[in-house]
Order: sequence, then C-alpha cells, then structure tokens
Amino acid sequence: MKGLILAGGLATRLRPLTWVTNKHLLPVYNKPMIFYPIMSLVKAGIKEILISSSPDHAGQFANLLKGGHEFGVKFYYSVQDNPKGGIANAIGLAKEFADEEKLAVILGDNIFNYDLKPTVEKFEKKDKGAVVFGIRMSSMESKQYGVIEISKTGKVISIEEKPEKPKSDIAQSGVYFYDNRLFDFIDRLKPSARGELEVTDLNNFYLKEGTLECQLLDWWIDAGTSHDELLRANNLVAQKIKNGEL
Ligand code: G1P
Repeated sequence: MKGLILAGGLATRLRPLTWVTNKHLLPVYNKPMIFYPIMSLVKAGIKEILISSSPDHAGQFANLLKGGHEFGVKFYYSVQDNPKGGIANAIGLAKEFADEEKLAVILGDNIFNYDLKPTVEKFEKKDKGAVVFGIRMSSMESKQYGVIEISKTGKVISIEEKPEKPKSDIAQSGVYFYDNRLFDFIDRLKPSARGELEVTDLNNFYLKEGTLECQLLDWWIDAGTSHDELLRANNLVAQKIKNGEL
C-alpha cells in the first residue's frame, strides 16, 4: 500500500499566514504541520509517500522533507495545478504513482494519533473496497464536514457532504483508504455545486457497492481550517507530546 498526502490549496482562511507559504508548512507546536500526517503513515508501515502540493510551494516541501531517509521512507512530489479542483481531483493525479497498489490518503492538515497499522494490514489482504475514518462531534459541528451515518453494527448507511440536517454525530475526517479502482471512479465524478470533485461522491461509489467500511478515530484535529483551529492544534499537540501521547 502506498501513501498520499494532500498539501495543496490556497488556504485563504489562514491569511495573512499563508500569503507566502503553504499552510501545511506552518508550525504546530514543535513541527511543521505536515510532519503529523507523515508520522501517521510511517507508523502504519507505509514506505512510499507522494506529497501533492501547489505549484508555488512544491519546492519548499522538497527543501524540508528531501528524499525521506530521515523518516525511513521514500518521498515523491507532485503538484495540483488547479487548487479548486477538489480532493477527489487531487487524488486522481496520483494514478501513476499508485500504479497497481492500494492507496492511503491523508489531508495534510489532519492531526491524530490513531494507529492505522492494523487497518492497513487488514486492508492489504482485501480484494476490493475502501475505508473512511470518522470522528464523533456535535451535529452543530459535524455539518461543516461530510457526515457518516452508521448502523449499530458499524455498517455505513450514508455519507452526505455538509448536510443541513446531519443524520449522525460522526464527521468524515480526511483519512481514506482505497483499492486501485478509485481512479476509474474518479473519472466518473461530476463537479459538485461548489465546483469540486468531492471525496464524498467518491466514497459513495464504494458505499453503493457495499464495500465501504468506517473506523472511528479517538481524537482528530483539522488544523488548517481557521486561526482558532490552528491555535487549538498547537495547544492540544503540545499537551499530547508532553504527556507522551503523540
Ligand atoms: C473535505 C471533505 C469533507 C471532510 C473534510 C475533512 O471538506 O469534503 O467530507 O469531512 O474535508 O477535513 P472541505 O475541507 O473540502 O470543506
């Protein structure tokens, strides 16, 4: 299984911090933000990781991360020319990199310490399917995300992108595992009302064929959404690191 970290976008909500740099390079306590998703993939045993960023900042990622030997992995770099293409569009650009392998995707501003390794090992043995990772939060908060409805036995019933009336308190995080058919599904996606190829629409292909699973994270921070979330990420990560939990 290979890894993909999405670190593009304009991050307009974090201006002026992001006028000259990419948000995934901003500090979160004692590390650049992108170190956290990298550490999650490294801990999961993934050895080849594609860092997808924006044309203006790709060089900064290479300066920081280099070939990957410091992490014991190999980094590859690519750019998403259209920062408004959406998450599924950015994932689609990893087709050559993925080759015949399955793909673990993490949005570059997602911080968590859930151990992905058991899920990676299980998923690698499967013929087909996808996994989404959810996080419980109040429905007032969850409606700004994809919302995942699951049955009592943990089966995924629905995923809706930013619904008016959320059907559950589980938000879709930015962590996804896919089999290699995802590129065919992405080719079939149509832009949403906000003009993007939505990761939720991609996940719904798997849901419809009954091969989508959901795992719940215990805590998760979407560090790049606002100045307040970035501040919360800094404080929480500092506390977790000091407690030896991250
Ligand atoms: C995207 C996805 C959404 C998901 C979120 C996680 O939202 O579309 O389903 O819950 O990432 O961060 P966006 O940040 O593009 O609004």
